[in-house]
Amino acid sequence: MPTLKFAVLAGDYIGPEVMTEALRVFEHVAKQEGLTLAYTKADVGGAGIDNHGKALPDSTLKICAESDAILFGSVGGPKWEKLPPKEQPERAALLPLRKHFTLFANIRPGLLYRELTDASPIKTERIPDGIDIVCIRELTGGLYFGLPKETTTLPNGDVQSVDTMIYRKSEIERITATAIATARSRKKKLCSVDKANVLETSVLWRKTVTEYVAKHAPEIELSHMYVDNAAMQLVRSPNQFDVFVTENMFGDILSDEMAVICGSLGMLSSASLGATKNSLGLPFGLFEPAGGTAPDIAGKGIANPCAQILSVALMLRFSFGLEKVATRIEAAVKKAVTSGTRTGDIAFGGKSVGTKAMADAIIANL
Ligand code: IPM
Ligand code: MG
Repeated sequence: MPTLKFAVLAGDYIGPEVMTEALRVFEHVAKQEGLTLAYTKADVGGAGIDNHGKALPDSTLKICAESDAILFGSVGGPKWEKLPPKEQPERAALLPLRKHFTLFANIRPGLLYRELTDASPIKTERIPDGIDIVCIRELTGGLYFGLPKETTTLPNGDVQSVDTMIYRKSEIERITATAIATARSRKKKLCSVDKANVLETSVLWRKTVTEYVAKHAPEIELSHMYVDNAAMQLVRSPNQFDVFVTENMFGDILSDEMAVICGSLGMLSSASLGATKNSLGLPFGLFEPAGGTAPDIAGKGIANPCAQILSVALMLRFSFGLEKVATRIEAAVKKAVTSGTRTGDIAFGGKSVGTKAMADAIIANL
């Protein structure tokens, strides 16, 4: 029986709630498919701070390094907001984790099922068939990591903060390669999003993407768009995009926009892949919902577990090469949510069935 070795980092607030259900769904599928799940749970984020004094404990890092993939929940929340910014769970756990494993390629599928178009803030007549696009976000460069990153008091007493945006050609080339691979598996259309009318890094970005695609994937139809226009086009007519690729900060913002036009942040999963291969020779990756810890609804049993469950599907696809099993989970989620099963997620406006019942409905469709 194939054994799947992965680390489970549930994190804070709704993180553990949706993780419990995702693992229950996963165990069910594993049994059907004859797969053995060998996972190790570890603390991260606020849980890391509370139990180990550190948002990303060394023991957690070790467990991740010994695994073939990381299934991640979400971190942070009001309990740790008083800590100095650099010690807060998001900055002290998630970002170092991405950097440590060089998880430079963040793949976020924006999918709105035709049956749920009423859940989107976009008028149904503009998206009669729903939405199906993919955001490829560079994840280990740009403003998030560039140095200097600091706050200083100037001689005149004024206070100054600086974040630094740096991109190297090699970093742009490798994320372009991911975007090309994704575009090839779909409509062979790629839109690169930048701010080349203002930013030096964007000028390099546009030049590098253009040259790389011309050289390595001339069959891909490449277009370019400024990020402000892209933000507007995404709500005007989302399906004009098929795959878009962009730098870290722009991708962070556009992917939240993409999530809300797709009905709910609770449906958006993501894969962060790196340069390293796991013990199976497949990409080592971190798989997580794109949403946060939702402290306001934590403990109520109403958080939408779909994004976490869909993250399991992405892990099966990318880090374990089990495309068929991944597709089965995705189909079961689709069936469950389009046949009227809704969580308390307000974006869906439907009857609240709760986290556990949602997972039950998915299991019933497997
Ligand atoms: C995301 C999140 C993170 C990010 C936060 C939690 C640091 O918003 O994955 O999109 O900004 O990358
Ligand atoms: Mg974000």
